Amino acid sequence: MQFVPEPPAPSVSSGLIRLERLTQRFRSGDQELTVLNEVDLEIAAGESVAILGPSGSGKSTLLALIAGLDNPTSGRVLIEGREIQNLSEDDLAMLRRSKIGFVFQSFQLLGNLTAAENVRLPIDLARLDRPDQRTAALLDEVGLADRGHHYPAQLSGGEQQRVALARAFATRPPILLADEPTGNLDAATGARVLELLADLKSRRGTTLVLVTHDPAVAAVADRRLYLNGGGLVDEGSGGR
Ligand SMILES: Nc1ncnc2c1ncn2[C@@H]1O[C@H](COP(=O)(O)OP(=O)(O)OP(=O)(O)O)[C@@H](O)[C@H]1O
Ligand SMILES: [Mg+2]
Repeated sequence: MQFVPEPPAPSVSSGLIRLERLTQRFRSGDQELTVLNEVDLEIAAGESVAILGPSGSGKSTLLALIAGLDNPTSGRVLIEGREIQNLSEDDLAMLRRSKIGFVFQSFQLLGNLTAAENVRLPIDLARLDRPDQRTAALLDEVGLADRGHHYPAQLSGGEQQRVALARAFATRPPILLADEPTGNLDAATGARVLELLADLKSRRGTTLVLVTHDPAVAAVADRRLYLNGGGLVDEGSGGR
């Protein structure tokens, strides 16, 4: 009998994040809006991707689906080859807590906690050691070392944004999803946040998915994707 070599094992999924025919429709009244129309995307571990597109094109919707914060109308989201829609509430919460940092466009800080307490919360939930030092170091990294005792309402928009970034970095998640991370920052602070993002990527190998209108943020990403009319177009890795 002739020897037939074994075929290579099917690749489970090389992408850390994988979207398959992801569709999201919203109904309001008798109108239906297709925000994402069968979007396919694969993002490798350690890659940084900028998502661009006009207001209302579905960028925040896309990030929320990747984080499992919302359910798609159809299609699949896989993180490390696991379909997140199939996970139990507990497993999904665990996945989010251990793998994903999320910076919301609207920050979503807890108003009854101080800046330091907001940053410290995920550290405590993950039971990391030296929570005080970690919290202080994170606040320092975003230039808010002396504002830890302020409540969100006592901080400017840009300061709240930086607290939200520090909170998202707090547990050093392998995936950081950030919705307009420099949207409310002046040029100098924005440049500092950009440095922080570049540092996360190069030193920790963090996978970054950044929604942005900021050309400086888009320029540092490995890949730029443009969302419009429900479709995602890869604009490639060429510099701008
Ligand atoms: N829960 C919802 N119900 C109905 N429509 C929604 C819902 N969430 C989002 N939409 C609609 O989906 C579209 C995409 O919204 P999304 O927030 O994803 O846009 P975006 O690209 O992030 O815009 P921006 O740049 O202004 O933040 C918008 O037209 C919005 O009105
Ligand atoms: Mg948005």
